[in-house]
Amino acid sequence: MKSLINKNIIITGAGSGIGRLMALRFAAESSNLALVDINAAALKALKDDIGKKGVKISVNTYTCDISDRTAVSRTVAGIMRDFTQVDVLINNAGVVIGKAFLDLSLEEFHRTMDVNFWGHLYFTKAVLPGMTARNSGNIVNVASSSGLLGMPLLSDYAASKFAEVGFSEALRRELKKFGHGGVKITCVCPYIIDTGMFRGFKPMLLSPFVKPDRAAARIVRAVKKDHPYVMLPAHSIRGMMFLKLLPTAFFDWMLKMSGGDSAMDGFTGRP
Ligand SMILES: NC(=O)c1ccc[n+]([C@@H]2O[C@H](COP(=O)([O-])OP(=O)(O)OC[C@H]3O[C@@H](n4cnc5c(N)ncnc54)[C@H](O)[C@@H]3O)[C@@H](O)[C@H]2O)c1
Repeated sequence: MKSLINKNIIITGAGSGIGRLMALRFAAESSNLALVDINAAALKALKDDIGKKGVKISVNTYTCDISDRTAVSRTVAGIMRDFTQVDVLINNAGVVIGKAFLDLSLEEFHRTMDVNFWGHLYFTKAVLPGMTARNSGNIVNVASSSGLLGMPLLSDYAASKFAEVGFSEALRRELKKFGHGGVKITCVCPYIIDTGMFRGFKPMLLSPFVKPDRAAARIVRAVKKDHPYVMLPAHSIRGMMFLKLLPTAFFDWMLKMSGGDSAMDGFTGRP
C-alpha cells in the first residue's frame, strides 16, 4: 500500500504501547482511524491527543473486548457503518500472564489464546471478504519472537503467538494461490519492546529491548511496503531461527548461557 492518505485503518489494542504509537504515526500519514481497545479511558485520551495534532482525518473509538466474538461482530458492524470499508487491519491487542504451566489455570490459558489468537482471527474473518472482493488491503498480525521460540513461563503466550505466525503464513500463501494476492499479510515478530507489557523481563545477552517508537515505525513502513514479515531486531531473530537448526541440546545450552531460561523469573508485567 504505497500511500496511506485517506485509508481506513483499524488498530486493536490502540490504547497503549505500540498500538497507541502506531495510531499517532498513521494519523501523521493522514489515515482515518478506527481505534479499538478494552480500555475506554485510554482510547479517549488517544483520540484527544490526535485531535490536538490538528490533522484532518476521521477518528472513531470502539470499546471492545476482542476475545468476545459477538462484541467483535458488533464493533466491526459499527466500523463499517462509520467508514464503509476497511483498508488496513492491525491485529495488535495482546496480553501476557507469565506463569509456569503447572500454575496456570485452564481459564488463564484460554484467556491468552482468546485475546492473542482468537481475537485477531475474529477481526480477520470479519474484514477479509471486503478486501478480497476489491483484491486490495493489508492485514498486520502482531505476533512475537515467542511465536518462533518457546521460553519458560510463556507456554500460553508462545502457543498463542505460534498460532498467529502459522495462521499468518498459511493465509498469506493461500490468498496468493486463490488470486487474492492484492491482499497483503504482514506478520510481526518482535523481541521484548520497552512498553511495560513485559516489565521485569531480564534482557538476554547482547539483546537490548526494542524501543517502542522504532517498533511502531517499522510496522507502519511494512504496511507501506507490503512486507510479509517484521522481525525486530532482524539480526537477532533471524540468528535465533538459524540456531534452531543446531542440535536441540546445544541450542538449549546456548539459550541458558545467554539468560533465556531465567529471563522471565523476575517478570511482573502490568499491574
Ligand atoms: N511489549 C513487548 O515486549 C512485546 C514483544 C513482542 C510482541 N508484543 C506484542 O505486541 C502487541 C502490543 O504489545 P504492547 O507492548 O504495546 O502491549 P500493551 O500492554 O502496552 O498494549 C496492549 C493493549 O491491548 C489492549 N487489550 C488487552 N486485552 C484486550 C482485549 N481483550 N480486547 C481489546 N483490547 C485489549 C490493552 O488494553 C492495551 O491497550 C501485543 O500483541 C504483544 O503480545 C509485545
